[in-house]
Amino acid sequence: MISSDLHEAVRLLSAGKLVGMPTETVYGLAANALDPVAVARIFEAKNRPAFDPLIVHIGQRAELAQLVTHLPAEAEALMQAFWPGPLTLVLPKTEAVPDLVTSGLPHVAVRMPRHPLALRLLQSLPFPLAAPSANPFGYVSPTTAQHVMDQLADQVGFVLDGGPCQVGLESTVVGFRSDRAIILRQGGIPQEAIEEVLGHAVDSQTSQSRPDAPGQMDSHYAPHRTIHLLEHGTRPTDVAKESWISFAPHAEAMASLAPDGSVATAAQRLFGVLRHLDQQPGGPVWIEKAPEIGLGRAVNDRLMRAAHRA
Ligand code: TXA
Ligand code: MG
Repeated sequence: MISSDLHEAVRLLSAGKLVGMPTETVYGLAANALDPVAVARIFEAKNRPAFDPLIVHIGQRAELAQLVTHLPAEAEALMQAFWPGPLTLVLPKTEAVPDLVTSGLPHVAVRMPRHPLALRLLQSLPFPLAAPSANPFGYVSPTTAQHVMDQLADQVGFVLDGGPCQVGLESTVVGFRSDRAIILRQGGIPQEAIEEVLGHAVDSQTSQSRPDAPGQMDSHYAPHRTIHLLEHGTRPTDVAKESWISFAPHAEAMASLAPDGSVATAAQRLFGVLRHLDQQPGGPVWIEKAPEIGLGRAVNDRLMRAAHRA
């Protein structure tokens, strides 16, 4: 069921059950991060391979001490700037974090979401929440409570409704090499904003060929219809109106990713557009990429994975 009953969510999570939870990025499938049996239920429900580690969500800074053993100065600066918000930090883990959460890695991914209901939920619980995006493994992430129910109703009895997600795609994941930040997944905090806080350029290693962020398959967010990408500013030739989604509105396109032409709007709408396409019958679809700036990087990253055929 879809509900805004916070107390019921607290009760279920305290009993080791799974709950769909809103965040500002996408909906998560949450369980007690410190309970390996509850965490195992997440992998089972999503049909997620055990080599793909989970993000641990916290409601206050004080919880970090229980989870991580070392905080690089750059991590501290990024937390100051972007928490609560769509930024995940990968840090050396304590023994309190079950190996299943990190897929056996010595590091744990931690984030503090800024969605008010998510924060209230986390602050009402005596433990942090492990939560991947609440979609079957390899499919598009959910940006409404209904999306979660559409695909995981049999596995998740309860979704806490926090309305449509404001950011619309997942958090930026940042790891550290010799205490220097490196972007492992483009997401809701733009690379430029991170570089501005740190005062230097930051590497981005987000392909599957880098094992640093396991679980980032080149093929992901895979709709059933074939997707072809168009470079930003280009249009397809000899393609019917029904098969073309432009970036900004175009009279000859079926729809646009960003009716107002902004990358933030494209980010917010992207997964809903992919889902909608999948519900329509039809052949291949051509989608114009975003400009490769700000949130456009994350939009293009998700589009490339959606278009990738294994
Ligand atoms: O916005 C988000 O991050 C959403 C919401 C629910 O918080 N969560 C999310 O989780 O996107 P998920 O499981 O779909 O993606 C988490 C990704 C993993 O695939 C992996 O790339 C990276 O985060 N990750 C998690 N733990 C890691 C670790 N210990 N080391 C390196 N990368 C890690
Ligand atoms: Mg995911």
